[in-house]
Amino acid sequence: ALHESFSSKLEARQRITNQLQPYASTFKVAVLGAAGGIGQPLALLIKMSPLVSALHLYDIANVKGVAADLSHCNTPSQVLDFTGPAELANCLKGVDVVVIPAGVPRKPGMTRDDLFNINANIVKTLIEAVADNCPDALIHIISNPVNSTVPIAAEVLKQKGVYNPKKLFGVTTLDVVRANTFVAQKKGLKLIDVDVPVVGGHAGITILPLLSKTRPSTTFTDKEVEELTARIQNAGTEVVEAKAGAGSATLSMAYAAARFVESSLRALDGDADVYECSFIQSDLNELPFFASRVKMGKEGVEAVISADLQGLTEFEEKALEALKPELRASIEKGVAFVHKQP
Ligand code: NAI
Repeated sequence: ALHESFSSKLEARQRITNQLQPYASTFKVAVLGAAGGIGQPLALLIKMSPLVSALHLYDIANVKGVAADLSHCNTPSQVLDFTGPAELANCLKGVDVVVIPAGVPRKPGMTRDDLFNINANIVKTLIEAVADNCPDALIHIISNPVNSTVPIAAEVLKQKGVYNPKKLFGVTTLDVVRANTFVAQKKGLKLIDVDVPVVGGHAGITILPLLSKTRPSTTFTDKEVEELTARIQNAGTEVVEAKAGAGSATLSMAYAAARFVESSLRALDGDADVYECSFIQSDLNELPFFASRVKMGKEGVEAVISADLQGLTEFEEKALEALKPELRASIEKGVAFVHKQP
Protein backbone atom coordinates (compact mmCIF):
# COMPACT_ATOMS: atom_id res chain seq x y z
CA ALA A 1 0.00 0.00 0.00
CA LEU A 2 2.90 2.25 0.89
CA HIS A 3 4.48 1.59 -2.47
CA GLU A 4 1.19 2.21 -4.23
CA SER A 5 0.64 5.59 -2.63
CA PHE A 6 4.24 6.55 -3.38
CA SER A 7 3.90 5.71 -7.06
CA SER A 8 0.56 7.49 -7.35
CA LYS A 9 2.19 10.54 -5.79
CA LEU A 10 4.94 10.25 -8.37
CA GLU A 11 2.35 10.02 -11.11
CA ALA A 12 0.54 13.06 -9.78
CA ARG A 13 3.80 14.99 -9.70
CA GLN A 14 4.58 13.85 -13.24
CA ARG A 15 1.17 15.10 -14.37
CA ILE A 16 1.90 18.50 -12.85
CA THR A 17 5.34 18.59 -14.47
CA ASN A 18 3.78 17.78 -17.82
CA GLN A 19 1.32 20.63 -17.39
CA LEU A 20 4.18 22.95 -16.57
CA GLN A 21 6.04 22.00 -19.71
CA PRO A 22 5.05 24.81 -22.03
CA TYR A 23 5.48 22.98 -25.32
CA ALA A 24 4.17 19.62 -26.51
CA SER A 25 6.71 19.12 -29.26
CA THR A 26 9.91 20.37 -30.78
CA PHE A 27 10.84 21.06 -34.38
CA LYS A 28 13.66 21.04 -36.90
CA VAL A 29 14.54 24.33 -38.57
CA ALA A 30 16.87 24.92 -41.54
CA VAL A 31 18.49 28.27 -42.36
CA LEU A 32 19.75 28.62 -45.96
CA GLY A 33 22.35 31.39 -46.20
CA ALA A 34 23.27 30.84 -42.56
CA ALA A 35 26.78 32.32 -42.72
CA GLY A 36 25.56 35.75 -43.87
CA GLY A 37 24.84 39.01 -42.12
CA ILE A 38 21.27 37.95 -41.34
CA GLY A 39 21.92 34.22 -41.20
CA GLN A 40 24.37 34.29 -38.27
CA PRO A 41 22.37 36.33 -35.74
CA LEU A 42 19.19 34.61 -36.92
CA ALA A 43 20.75 31.22 -36.24
CA LEU A 44 21.76 32.43 -32.77
CA LEU A 45 18.24 33.58 -31.95
CA ILE A 46 16.73 30.32 -33.23
CA LYS A 47 19.30 28.41 -31.14
CA MET A 48 17.72 30.05 -28.08
CA SER A 49 14.24 28.69 -28.83
CA PRO A 50 12.96 25.91 -26.55
CA LEU A 51 10.77 24.78 -29.47
CA VAL A 52 13.72 23.77 -31.64
CA SER A 53 15.37 20.34 -31.42
CA ALA A 54 17.63 20.64 -34.45
CA LEU A 55 19.08 23.60 -36.30
CA HIS A 56 20.42 22.86 -39.79
CA LEU A 57 22.72 25.57 -41.15
CA TYR A 58 23.44 25.73 -44.88
CA ASP A 59 25.59 28.08 -46.91
CA ILE A 60 27.92 27.90 -49.89
CA ALA A 61 30.88 28.76 -47.58
CA ASN A 62 31.96 29.54 -44.00
CA VAL A 63 29.14 27.71 -42.26
CA LYS A 64 31.25 25.13 -40.40
CA GLY A 65 32.63 27.76 -38.05
CA VAL A 66 29.24 29.33 -37.42
CA ALA A 67 27.82 25.93 -36.49
CA ALA A 68 30.78 24.98 -34.26
CA ASP A 69 30.50 28.30 -32.46
CA LEU A 70 26.72 28.10 -31.93
CA SER A 71 26.86 24.45 -30.89
CA HIS A 72 28.58 25.48 -27.63
CA CYS A 73 25.50 27.37 -26.39
CA ASN A 74 23.85 25.20 -23.73
CA THR A 75 20.38 25.37 -25.24
CA PRO A 76 18.56 22.20 -26.35
CA SER A 77 18.88 22.23 -30.13
CA GLN A 78 21.51 20.25 -31.95
CA VAL A 79 23.36 22.33 -34.56
CA LEU A 80 24.48 20.73 -37.84
CA ASP A 81 26.37 22.35 -40.71
CA PHE A 82 25.95 21.74 -44.44
CA THR A 83 28.23 23.31 -47.04
CA GLY A 84 27.53 23.60 -50.75
CA PRO A 85 24.94 22.07 -53.10
CA ALA A 86 26.10 18.49 -52.48
CA GLU A 87 24.98 18.74 -48.83
CA LEU A 88 21.77 20.68 -49.41
CA ALA A 89 19.46 17.66 -49.66
CA ASN A 90 20.64 16.29 -46.31
CA CYS A 91 20.21 19.71 -44.74
CA LEU A 92 16.55 19.77 -45.76
CA LYS A 93 15.39 16.22 -45.05
CA GLY A 94 12.90 16.10 -42.19
CA VAL A 95 12.78 19.81 -41.41
CA ASP A 96 9.57 21.55 -40.36
CA VAL A 97 10.54 25.13 -41.23
CA VAL A 98 12.98 26.43 -43.88
CA VAL A 99 14.15 30.03 -43.59
CA ILE A 100 15.87 31.58 -46.60
CA PRO A 101 18.09 34.66 -46.12
CA ALA A 102 20.50 33.62 -48.93
CA GLY A 103 21.49 36.20 -51.50
CA VAL A 104 23.07 39.60 -51.92
CA PRO A 105 21.94 42.67 -49.94
CA ARG A 106 21.52 46.25 -51.17
CA LYS A 107 24.22 48.89 -51.33
CA PRO A 108 23.50 52.65 -51.23
CA GLY A 109 21.61 53.78 -54.32
CA MET A 110 20.14 50.33 -55.03
CA THR A 111 16.47 49.38 -54.85
CA ARG A 112 15.41 45.91 -53.77
CA ASP A 113 14.53 45.23 -57.40
CA ASP A 114 18.16 45.81 -58.41
CA LEU A 115 18.92 42.54 -56.59
CA PHE A 116 16.53 40.62 -58.81
CA ASN A 117 18.89 38.91 -61.22
CA ILE A 118 21.20 37.38 -58.63
CA ASN A 119 18.68 36.55 -55.94
CA ALA A 120 16.01 35.18 -58.29
CA ASN A 121 18.39 32.41 -59.37
CA ILE A 122 19.47 31.66 -55.80
CA VAL A 123 15.89 31.39 -54.55
CA LYS A 124 14.85 29.26 -57.54
CA THR A 125 17.67 26.78 -56.93
CA LEU A 126 17.06 26.56 -53.20
CA ILE A 127 13.29 26.11 -53.60
CA GLU A 128 13.84 23.27 -56.08
CA ALA A 129 15.76 21.49 -53.34
CA VAL A 130 13.05 22.28 -50.78
CA ALA A 131 10.44 20.81 -53.15
CA ASP A 132 12.48 17.63 -53.54
CA ASN A 133 13.42 17.12 -49.90
CA CYS A 134 10.89 18.73 -47.53
CA PRO A 135 7.79 19.64 -49.55
CA ASP A 136 5.63 19.83 -46.39
CA ALA A 137 7.80 22.36 -44.57
CA LEU A 138 6.78 25.95 -43.91
CA ILE A 139 8.94 28.18 -46.15
CA HIS A 140 10.00 31.65 -44.98
CA ILE A 141 11.51 33.81 -47.74
CA ILE A 142 13.70 36.73 -46.62
CA SER A 143 15.80 37.16 -49.81
CA ASN A 144 14.85 40.34 -51.67
CA PRO A 145 13.01 41.48 -53.65
CA VAL A 146 10.41 39.59 -51.58
CA ASN A 147 7.64 40.94 -53.88
CA SER A 148 9.18 38.81 -56.66
CA THR A 149 11.03 35.99 -54.86
CA VAL A 150 7.84 34.68 -53.22
CA PRO A 151 6.03 34.37 -56.59
CA ILE A 152 9.20 32.72 -57.96
CA ALA A 153 9.08 30.18 -55.15
CA ALA A 154 5.38 29.54 -55.79
CA GLU A 155 5.97 28.87 -59.49
CA VAL A 156 8.89 26.53 -58.80
CA LEU A 157 6.82 24.59 -56.26
CA LYS A 158 3.94 24.39 -58.77
CA GLN A 159 6.29 23.02 -61.44
CA LYS A 160 7.37 20.38 -58.92
CA GLY A 161 3.71 19.61 -58.11
CA VAL A 162 4.08 20.36 -54.38
CA TYR A 163 2.85 23.95 -54.01
CA ASN A 164 0.84 24.56 -50.85
CA PRO A 165 -0.04 28.28 -50.69
CA LYS A 166 -0.72 27.99 -46.96
CA LYS A 167 2.93 27.17 -46.31
CA LEU A 168 4.79 29.79 -48.35
CA PHE A 169 5.55 33.09 -46.61
CA GLY A 170 7.39 36.26 -47.55
CA VAL A 171 8.89 37.59 -44.33
CA THR A 172 7.60 41.16 -43.79
CA THR A 173 7.89 41.07 -40.00
CA LEU A 174 10.62 43.71 -40.07
CA ASP A 175 8.12 46.22 -41.47
CA VAL A 176 5.82 45.51 -38.52
CA VAL A 177 8.70 45.68 -36.03
CA ARG A 178 9.75 49.05 -37.45
CA ALA A 179 6.19 50.39 -37.52
CA ASN A 180 5.67 49.37 -33.89
CA THR A 181 8.96 50.99 -32.82
CA PHE A 182 8.45 54.27 -34.68
CA VAL A 183 4.81 54.65 -33.62
CA ALA A 184 5.62 53.92 -29.97
CA GLN A 185 8.44 56.50 -30.07
CA LYS A 186 6.34 59.17 -31.76
CA LYS A 187 3.31 58.72 -29.50
CA GLY A 188 5.16 57.98 -26.27
CA LEU A 189 3.52 54.54 -25.97
CA LYS A 190 4.86 51.48 -24.20
CA LEU A 191 6.58 49.53 -26.98
CA ILE A 192 5.44 46.12 -25.86
CA ASP A 193 1.77 47.10 -26.29
CA VAL A 194 1.94 48.60 -29.77
CA ASP A 195 0.82 46.61 -32.80
CA VAL A 196 0.55 48.15 -36.27
CA PRO A 197 -0.60 45.91 -39.13
CA VAL A 198 1.47 46.43 -42.31
CA VAL A 199 -0.04 45.27 -45.61
CA GLY A 200 0.80 45.27 -49.32
CA GLY A 201 4.32 44.22 -50.19
CA HIS A 202 7.91 44.63 -49.02
CA ALA A 203 9.51 47.47 -51.03
CA GLY A 204 9.09 51.25 -50.98
CA ILE A 205 5.50 52.38 -51.49
CA THR A 206 4.22 48.80 -51.53
CA ILE A 207 4.84 48.76 -47.76
CA LEU A 208 1.60 50.14 -46.31
CA PRO A 209 1.38 50.53 -42.53
CA LEU A 210 -2.28 50.80 -41.49
CA LEU A 211 -1.78 53.39 -38.79
CA SER A 212 -5.53 53.79 -38.31
CA LYS A 213 -5.59 50.15 -37.12
CA THR A 214 -2.87 50.67 -34.52
CA ARG A 215 -3.50 48.91 -31.25
CA PRO A 216 -3.94 50.32 -28.67
CA SER A 217 -6.23 52.72 -30.53
CA THR A 218 -4.22 55.88 -31.22
CA THR A 219 -4.91 59.07 -33.14
CA PHE A 220 -2.45 60.73 -35.53
CA THR A 221 -2.42 64.11 -37.24
CA ASP A 222 -2.25 64.07 -41.04
CA LYS A 223 1.36 65.19 -40.81
CA GLU A 224 2.22 62.38 -38.39
CA VAL A 225 0.61 59.83 -40.73
CA GLU A 226 2.61 61.10 -43.69
CA GLU A 227 5.89 61.19 -41.80
CA LEU A 228 5.47 57.83 -40.10
CA THR A 229 4.36 56.12 -43.31
CA ALA A 230 7.35 57.51 -45.23
CA ARG A 231 9.77 56.54 -42.44
CA ILE A 232 8.46 52.97 -42.25
CA GLN A 233 8.63 52.63 -46.05
CA ASN A 234 12.20 53.97 -46.19
CA ALA A 235 13.57 52.46 -42.98
CA GLY A 236 15.53 49.83 -44.90
CA THR A 237 17.23 52.56 -46.91
CA GLU A 238 18.02 54.42 -43.64
CA VAL A 239 20.08 51.38 -42.61
CA VAL A 240 21.62 50.82 -46.06
CA GLU A 241 22.87 54.42 -46.07
CA ALA A 242 24.16 54.28 -42.48
CA LYS A 243 26.08 51.09 -43.30
CA ALA A 244 27.51 52.92 -46.34
CA GLY A 245 28.21 49.93 -48.56
CA ALA A 246 28.56 47.27 -45.87
CA GLY A 247 25.08 45.87 -46.52
CA SER A 248 21.49 46.28 -45.34
CA ALA A 249 19.57 45.53 -42.15
CA THR A 250 20.87 42.33 -40.58
CA LEU A 251 20.37 42.51 -36.80
CA SER A 252 16.85 43.94 -36.76
CA MET A 253 16.05 41.57 -39.64
CA ALA A 254 17.35 38.59 -37.70
CA TYR A 255 15.24 39.69 -34.72
CA ALA A 256 12.15 40.00 -36.92
CA ALA A 257 12.75 36.70 -38.71
CA ALA A 258 13.30 34.92 -35.39
CA ARG A 259 9.98 36.27 -34.16
CA PHE A 260 8.31 34.92 -37.31
CA VAL A 261 9.97 31.51 -36.84
CA GLU A 262 8.91 31.40 -33.18
CA SER A 263 5.32 32.32 -34.09
CA SER A 264 5.26 29.62 -36.76
CA LEU A 265 6.58 27.01 -34.33
CA ARG A 266 4.04 27.99 -31.66
CA ALA A 267 1.30 27.58 -34.29
CA LEU A 268 2.69 24.18 -35.33
CA ASP A 269 2.72 23.25 -31.65
CA GLY A 270 -1.02 23.93 -31.42
CA ASP A 271 -1.16 27.46 -30.00
CA ALA A 272 -4.50 28.74 -31.32
CA ASP A 273 -3.71 32.43 -30.88
CA VAL A 274 -0.90 33.23 -33.32
CA TYR A 275 -1.21 36.17 -35.71
CA GLU A 276 1.51 37.67 -37.90
CA CYS A 277 1.65 39.83 -41.01
CA SER A 278 3.15 38.08 -44.04
CA PHE A 279 3.31 38.31 -47.83
CA ILE A 280 1.32 35.32 -49.07
CA GLN A 281 -0.88 34.11 -51.90
CA SER A 282 -4.08 35.95 -51.15
CA ASP A 283 -7.60 36.62 -52.38
CA LEU A 284 -8.13 39.75 -50.30
CA ASN A 285 -8.08 41.81 -53.51
CA GLU A 286 -7.21 41.47 -57.20
CA LEU A 287 -3.47 40.98 -56.52
CA PRO A 288 -2.42 37.31 -56.43
CA PHE A 289 0.02 37.93 -53.55
CA PHE A 290 -0.54 40.44 -50.79
CA ALA A 291 0.81 40.98 -47.29
CA SER A 292 -1.76 41.10 -44.51
CA ARG A 293 -2.33 39.77 -41.05
CA VAL A 294 -2.87 36.01 -41.02
CA LYS A 295 -3.85 33.54 -38.35
CA MET A 296 -1.26 30.79 -38.25
CA GLY A 297 -2.11 27.19 -37.45
CA LYS A 298 -0.76 23.65 -37.63
CA GLU A 299 -1.05 23.65 -41.42
CA GLY A 300 0.38 27.12 -42.02
CA VAL A 301 -2.02 29.94 -42.89
CA GLU A 302 -5.31 29.16 -41.16
CA ALA A 303 -7.14 32.38 -42.01
CA VAL A 304 -6.42 35.66 -43.74
CA ILE A 305 -7.59 38.60 -41.64
CA SER A 306 -9.63 40.87 -43.91
CA ALA A 307 -10.94 43.16 -41.15
CA ASP A 308 -7.78 45.34 -41.20
CA LEU A 309 -8.61 46.38 -44.77
CA GLN A 310 -12.13 47.52 -43.94
CA GLY A 311 -12.83 51.10 -42.94
CA LEU A 312 -9.49 52.49 -44.15
CA THR A 313 -8.81 56.23 -44.01
CA GLU A 314 -8.75 58.19 -47.25
CA PHE A 315 -4.94 58.36 -47.01
CA GLU A 316 -4.71 54.57 -46.66
CA GLU A 317 -7.24 53.93 -49.48
CA LYS A 318 -5.22 56.13 -51.82
CA ALA A 319 -1.91 54.56 -50.80
CA LEU A 320 -3.42 51.11 -51.32
CA GLU A 321 -4.55 51.95 -54.86
CA ALA A 322 -1.18 53.59 -55.57
CA LEU A 323 0.86 50.53 -54.57
CA LYS A 324 -1.09 48.03 -56.66
CA PRO A 325 0.55 48.62 -60.10
CA GLU A 326 4.09 48.35 -58.69
CA LEU A 327 3.28 45.29 -56.62
CA ARG A 328 1.54 43.61 -59.56
CA ALA A 329 4.55 44.31 -61.81
CA SER A 330 6.96 42.79 -59.27
CA ILE A 331 4.79 39.70 -58.89
CA GLU A 332 4.53 39.28 -62.66
CA LYS A 333 8.29 39.74 -63.04
CA GLY A 334 8.83 36.83 -60.63
CA VAL A 335 6.34 34.57 -62.40
CA ALA A 336 7.81 35.42 -65.83
CA PHE A 337 11.34 34.68 -64.58
CA VAL A 338 10.43 31.06 -63.83
CA HIS A 339 8.55 30.54 -67.09
CA LYS A 340 11.24 31.95 -69.36
CA GLN A 341 13.74 29.41 -68.01
CA PRO A 342 14.77 26.67 -70.47
P1 NAI B 1 24.92 38.62 -46.80
O1 NAI B 1 25.61 38.83 -48.10
O2 NAI B 1 25.57 39.08 -45.57
O3 NAI B 1 24.61 37.07 -46.62
C1 NAI B 1 24.04 36.30 -47.64
C2 NAI B 1 24.51 34.88 -47.46
O4 NAI B 1 23.90 34.09 -48.50
C3 NAI B 1 26.03 34.70 -47.59
O5 NAI B 1 26.52 33.98 -46.48
C4 NAI B 1 26.19 33.93 -48.88
O6 NAI B 1 27.28 33.02 -48.86
C5 NAI B 1 24.86 33.17 -48.91
N1 NAI B 1 24.54 32.66 -50.24
C6 NAI B 1 24.74 33.22 -51.45
N2 NAI B 1 24.34 32.39 -52.42
C7 NAI B 1 23.84 31.29 -51.82
C8 NAI B 1 23.28 30.08 -52.26
N3 NAI B 1 23.12 29.83 -53.57
N4 NAI B 1 22.88 29.18 -51.35
C9 NAI B 1 23.03 29.44 -50.03
N5 NAI B 1 23.55 30.55 -49.54
C10 NAI B 1 23.97 31.47 -50.42
O7 NAI B 1 23.45 39.27 -46.97
P2 NAI B 1 22.38 39.60 -45.81
O8 NAI B 1 22.60 40.96 -45.32
O9 NAI B 1 22.35 38.46 -44.87
O10 NAI B 1 21.02 39.63 -46.67
C11 NAI B 1 20.49 38.48 -47.26
C12 NAI B 1 19.21 38.78 -48.05
O11 NAI B 1 18.17 39.24 -47.18
C13 NAI B 1 19.38 39.87 -49.10
O12 NAI B 1 18.71 39.48 -50.28
C14 NAI B 1 18.66 41.05 -48.49
O13 NAI B 1 18.18 41.95 -49.47
C15 NAI B 1 17.54 40.38 -47.77
N6 NAI B 1 16.90 41.19 -46.73
C16 NAI B 1 15.55 41.04 -46.53
C17 NAI B 1 14.87 41.76 -45.59
C18 NAI B 1 13.41 41.56 -45.40
O14 NAI B 1 12.79 42.34 -44.65
N7 NAI B 1 12.78 40.55 -45.98
C19 NAI B 1 15.57 42.74 -44.75
C20 NAI B 1 16.99 42.79 -44.97
C21 NAI B 1 17.61 42.05 -45.94
